[in-house]
Amino acid sequence: MKLKKLLTIAALSGFTMLSASASAFFGSSDDNLRLGYLVKQPEEPWFQTEWSFAEKAGEQYGFEVIKMAVPDGEKTLNAIDTLAASGAKGFVICTPDPKLGPAIMAKANSYGLKVVTVDDQFLNAKGEPMADVPLVMMAASEIGYRQGTELYAEMQKRGWDASQTGVMAITADELDTARRRVDGSIKALQEAGFPTDQIYRVPTKSNDIPGALDAANSLLVQYPTVKQWMVVGMNDNTVLGGVRATEGQGFAAEKVIGIGINGVDAVNELAKSSATGFYGSLLPSPDVHGFKSIESLYHWVKDDVQPQKFVEVTDVVLITRDNFRDELEKKGL
Ligand code: GLA
Repeated sequence: MKLKKLLTIAALSGFTMLSASASAFFGSSDDNLRLGYLVKQPEEPWFQTEWSFAEKAGEQYGFEVIKMAVPDGEKTLNAIDTLAASGAKGFVICTPDPKLGPAIMAKANSYGLKVVTVDDQFLNAKGEPMADVPLVMMAASEIGYRQGTELYAEMQKRGWDASQTGVMAITADELDTARRRVDGSIKALQEAGFPTDQIYRVPTKSNDIPGALDAANSLLVQYPTVKQWMVVGMNDNTVLGGVRATEGQGFAAEKVIGIGINGVDAVNELAKSSATGFYGSLLPSPDVHGFKSIESLYHWVKDDVQPQKFVEVTDVVLITRDNFRDELEKKGL
């Protein structure tokens, strides 16, 4: 691959390459095995952690990881062109949109690139999961269920009167993993005895703090008599948006319990000098997702060992202001 051509492709496609060292990417010998790692939201520490553990796998096995940010469909397809041009043999991807699955696979297949998905599963044209593409993901329903269980336990610990309490469930139902986490959480709350008619769902327009904040604000104004809130959402940023909205509408920290999912995205919040309504987060295993997904791709490319079609990562721990440093350290994060 000639450097000039590659740079032209990169410029035309407008892709974002965040390789630790671009010179390693452009300058290394063509004998080096290169594998891509494409993520939809590189601003989330979750994905940065996956990247860094993918690189650990690269160091261990001796391949190069090409890290790329793919926030939309166009950038994703362009990134695949660039990867192929660089001589890469495959990639791991967390797609910006599950419905891109068929287009991503068509392009990857046209270049003979192998694909392993992580976190979010591809959907086919009929909206069904593309179960033949290898996937590494968290146990969404179970981890969601744990969120609901922990919220209820903390509500009881605070001695709240359930009749004056509301559950704000910020949803993103078009993303299967999000829908399953939130449904799991609501199920746990219902099974624990929380009144179903005080569980309010509101969809977010975008999976980030501003999107969740807007959604939460629109919900809060509809229920002015609720005295305390529990916040349910598919990840830390969603729950953080919900908590920020309660603050904006005058709820004190002790009147709000938010428990996120991802853990690594909650570190700044949990490190704040005084407690907020964001009580804690469930920390799954971004380290395992990053390492295992690209390790299986490597064995597939190198030794023709087919990856498992579905690896579900169940490991999860609740981190709060009291234990987050220790728990992150235990995982080497
Ligand atoms: C989805 C979410 C991310 C993270 C991963 C983990 O992709 O958008 O924030 O929770 O799942 O699997």
